[in-house]
Amino acid sequence: MVQYQRYNPWKKGVEYETEDGESQNSLGFNKISTRPRFLHLLFLFLFSCSLLLVPQFCFPSNFLLLLFLNAGTICCDRSSIRFDICFMKGDVRTHSLSSSIYLYTSRNSNGLMDYVPGPNKEDEENKEEEIQHEKIRPYSRKWEKSTMDTVSELHLISKRKDSGSRHQCDVKHGVPAIFFSTEGFTGNAFHDFNDVILPLYITSQHFNKRVVFVIADYHDWWYSKFGDILKVLSDYPPVDFSGDNRTHCFPEAIVGLRIHDDLTVDPSLMEGGKSMKDFHDLLDRAYRPRIKGIIEEEEKREARRNSKGKHPSPRSSENKAKREQKWDLIKKPKLAIMSRKGSRAITNENLLVKMAEQIGFEVEVLRPDRTTELAKIYRMLNSSDVLVGVHGAAMTHLLFLRPSKVFIQVIPLGTEWAAETYHGEPAVKLGLKYIGYKILPSESSLYDEYEKDDPVLNDPNSVHKKGWEFTKKIYLDHQNVRLNLKRFRKQLVQAYDYSFAKKNQDNNPQS
Ligand SMILES: *[C@@H]1O[C@H](CO)[C@@H](O)[C@H](O)[C@H]1NC(C)=O
Ligand SMILES: *[C@@H]1O[C@H](CO)[C@@H](O)[C@H](O)[C@H]1NC(C)=O
Repeated sequence: MVQYQRYNPWKKGVEYETEDGESQNSLGFNKISTRPRFLHLLFLFLFSCSLLLVPQFCFPSNFLLLLFLNAGTICCDRSSIRFDICFMKGDVRTHSLSSSIYLYTSRNSNGLMDYVPGPNKEDEENKEEEIQHEKIRPYSRKWEKSTMDTVSELHLISKRKDSGSRHQCDVKHGVPAIFFSTEGFTGNAFHDFNDVILPLYITSQHFNKRVVFVIADYHDWWYSKFGDILKVLSDYPPVDFSGDNRTHCFPEAIVGLRIHDDLTVDPSLMEGGKSMKDFHDLLDRAYRPRIKGIIEEEEKREARRNSKGKHPSPRSSENKAKREQKWDLIKKPKLAIMSRKGSRAITNENLLVKMAEQIGFEVEVLRPDRTTELAKIYRMLNSSDVLVGVHGAAMTHLLFLRPSKVFIQVIPLGTEWAAETYHGEPAVKLGLKYIGYKILPSESSLYDEYEKDDPVLNDPNSVHKKGWEFTKKIYLDHQNVRLNLKRFRKQLVQAYDYSFAKKNQDNNPQS
């Protein structure tokens, strides 16, 4: 019996492959060249899926999965500590009032569904039976229970096609859906990009915009903040899952998002070897229209000012002339300082600005808050050669720097591990030149509060061992930085020399 069941799905899969060649081609994959491996993977996959075994064999990647998944099957990969992801193929219908996504299948409960007991004979009760029921919270911090508790749990249920409960489609979509949540830690720049935007890129980019995003725990503010990026990943308006009680029907669905590592894309796990550089290119496309609009607004304002009879202000034309002159001669590297208020602020920031200008930088100080338009931050960082800032969520904007630019992260006491893991390593993977500037105890405001031999200053690890709340309270929430400018100057000069050479060589390739 067991032998037969293992063999049977394998055979069905082969039939499916030949029957459904067209839909495979529509996803852009060459079915012929992958056939031998395909059969092998298909076997492993169906074997593991139907018996709910060896999940790591189950999902070599999204596209392989959706390609090979038998219509009428729900398959979940729960092997990662960071995320769960489920796939449904066939007649997929949403039912938001019960937080459910149904899959109606013509399969009987024998054969593939070998874990469903029951007679082969049709009877009315059997028709209504749930063949499979999976639960998933589509957010990528699976190991953090308290965070996941804020995320809606979705029910994925497969039933027979002739089930009386099969509800009518109100909206019929011809393309797949991706379901994800924007609850959790969203609203924090790091988590927005790390937990949602990058995973969304990883999970959806190969669809070439032919995908509908269905957002659980939808927030208007989140969509207005990240809509620019969503629009370059999907050609369709997103669906607010709980706010839209219509039945949306899809030919297939992915529920949950894949994540590779902190703030990064691993090319070895991506279709087409896509990397962080490709993600940066996507950001550039995402923000281009809005930046163009901002520039036009600025020009109009300038023109209005001029037409009001006023001459262009002497200062601005003088500056412009100055700029143009510089343009001919040399280009000053631009330094952006990401400023923080409250904790982890640089208390001698004004002196830092002066020193940077003396070194030769054109300096801009950014003070983003929750409402700052990302396109404006993008515009500024995309044109910066060096970014300086103290470790914190706002450093996530390093993603906006163009590869080969310089990122100097000031690392306060007791934040070394987080600074390197969440920003230093991702910066390197993005192709930035990364400088981690670990402050000395004497550069920390904690130096004035503790005895010189206190473990808080000399042995942060011993504080970490006491628990997160100590780390947070002491090092994150109550520490400012007073840069030792003589010491920091060395980093800035290094960044200046590198950027200057690059910038002026890029512009005068002959010289
Ligand atoms: C579905 O939503 C509409 C519009 O928001 C509302 O009028 C209707 O009562 C809802 N239906 C159900 C069954 O909740
Ligand atoms: C970002 O900078 C590059 C190089 O200067 C430029 O080509 C590109 O248009 C900029 N992107 C946007 C959206 O302004």
